[in-house]
Amino acid sequence: PDVWYREMRDVGPVHYDAERTCYDVFRFEDVQRVLSDHANFSSQRAGEELTSQSIINMDPPKHMKYRQLVAQAFTPKAIEALAPRIEEIAKELLDEVANQPGFDIIRDFSYPLPVIVIAEMLGVPNEDREKFKHWSDIVVKGVDFEAGETIEDNMKLRHSVTQELGAYFAQVIQSRAIQPSNDLITALLASEVDGEKLTIPELLGFCFLLLVAGNETTTNLIGNTMLSLLETPANWERLVREPDLLNSAIEEGLRFRSPAQSMNRFTKEPVEIGGVTIPEGTEVIAWIGSANLDPEKFDRADEFVIDRNPNPHIAFGMGPHFCLGAPLARLEGRIAIQALMNRFPTMKLVEGAEFKTVASPIIYGLKSLPVVR
Ligand code: HEM
Repeated sequence: PDVWYREMRDVGPVHYDAERTCYDVFRFEDVQRVLSDHANFSSQRAGEELTSQSIINMDPPKHMKYRQLVAQAFTPKAIEALAPRIEEIAKELLDEVANQPGFDIIRDFSYPLPVIVIAEMLGVPNEDREKFKHWSDIVVKGVDFEAGETIEDNMKLRHSVTQELGAYFAQVIQSRAIQPSNDLITALLASEVDGEKLTIPELLGFCFLLLVAGNETTTNLIGNTMLSLLETPANWERLVREPDLLNSAIEEGLRFRSPAQSMNRFTKEPVEIGGVTIPEGTEVIAWIGSANLDPEKFDRADEFVIDRNPNPHIAFGMGPHFCLGAPLARLEGRIAIQALMNRFPTMKLVEGAEFKTVASPIIYGLKSLPVVR
């Protein structure tokens, strides 16, 4: 997409897409404005059935009331307390590949890690983990189109799995209502908005949102950063020698190959941006992936600079909807890459392998990332 982004920033930074009847916005300054100016650019979407009841589709002031309910579980301090457990999970996953000559960073490591973490945060019992992983995978990814499945198959499968996962969550919710525990579902059950308890659809909306927003993005944060480090072996070698660069390497991974490439909004009234007037009620796509490569904002924008500082990327968005899970994603990224450095300091990409990205305009991530030790 980089070439397309560069061209659009230059010749059509606010561009009308007649086919999809939406406007695309490409420059850093404009993308930042679309994401944060909620008075003009609304997050209220007709919405997918799964997350229609969730904060990602609300505008202030309602948005804040609901966001507050989960915000406490995601403060940097609350998240930091999870570090020992996440380290344990990372270790267990790497133990399983330790005796092999090579492995797939995505399949064996960066994919299962965030699913296990969020399942435990929500309060999914250990013995249900496999079942849960299977469901959440289908909810996020759908079926395998390359294996010949059709869009219709996909809709049917997703629908039935959504029902199953919804029923499953409903059962966990019920059991926590009887016997509270130290988890997110218990906390949500106890919380109120304007003196009212959350409804079951609202509770389910939160659970689904955490799965949809947090899992694939974190998998790709780890995968994309590892690809950026390993494709220039000097970067990986330097990080192993200077592990203090880990945080800046992760921020640069987020900027250089942003896991969430775009977010949309809807105009509430006619609004001018970048010299173009967008009519009322129109979808606007804010291209985060392009903003983060904008040379007006970043020197050497099209290079992965491992010690870039400052790095004001907007991979987690901007404004009231700024990613709630950012502290968790950063912590998981740090623990994951540190674990890879400790275990496999001489690791290399498999020579001649093709690093295909998943086919999505919204998500940037690899299908697989095979390495040898
Ligand atoms: C919102 C990116 C990980 C939960 C967002 C937004 C972005 C984003 C760009 C803004 C959406 C908008 O403006 O409409 C990412 C990236 C991640 C990541 C790149 C990983 C590298 C996570 C994780 C969780 C999470 C681990 C939770 C487990 C959320 C939630 C929102 C959100 C709940 C909605 C916040 C709101 O509407 O107030 N994320 N995310 N994300 N993210 Fe993340």
